[in-house]
Amino acid sequence: MTSILVLNGPNLNLLGKRQPEIYGHATLDDVADLCRAAAGDVSIRIEQSNHEGQLIDWIHEARGTTAGIVINAGAYTHTSIAIFDALNAYEGPVIEVHISNVHKREGFRHHSYISARADGVIVGLGIRGYAAAVRHIRDLTAEG
Ligand code: DQA
Repeated sequence: MTSILVLNGPNLNLLGKRQPEIYGHATLDDVADLCRAAAGDVSIRIEQSNHEGQLIDWIHEARGTTAGIVINAGAYTHTSIAIFDALNAYEGPVIEVHISNVHKREGFRHHSYISARADGVIVGLGIRGYAAAVRHIRDLTAEG
């Protein structure tokens, strides 16, 4: 199991166009480039969906096949017990990423269902948070 799955949830396809004052000008393609560079020779799959069920299907596919998951579930972070359950059915490390510092924002963004499952949480580092998360999982795979 030497591959990393990076999952992006709803509205992240609009990265770079949507509220750039909060999320910056970089696009999801830039995120993918950063993640590929951070993964080095470890294979990596980067996906985005606006649909909760699709994200859950990808998490299920990761069972037994994927060394770790990096997930920015967007607003589903704050609502989705179903994604929490799917991540609990996955055996490997999970790193939760948010581009913005959700704790500086509206109160409804302060609670994350995913944090109760995640092994690490990175918020507020912009898209560089993805690279840090991917590097962490790559390091874990190298440690064996
Ligand atoms: C986000 C934060 C969420 O609260 C929000 O719904 C998003 C993006 C972030 O990356 O900062 O869609 O996950």
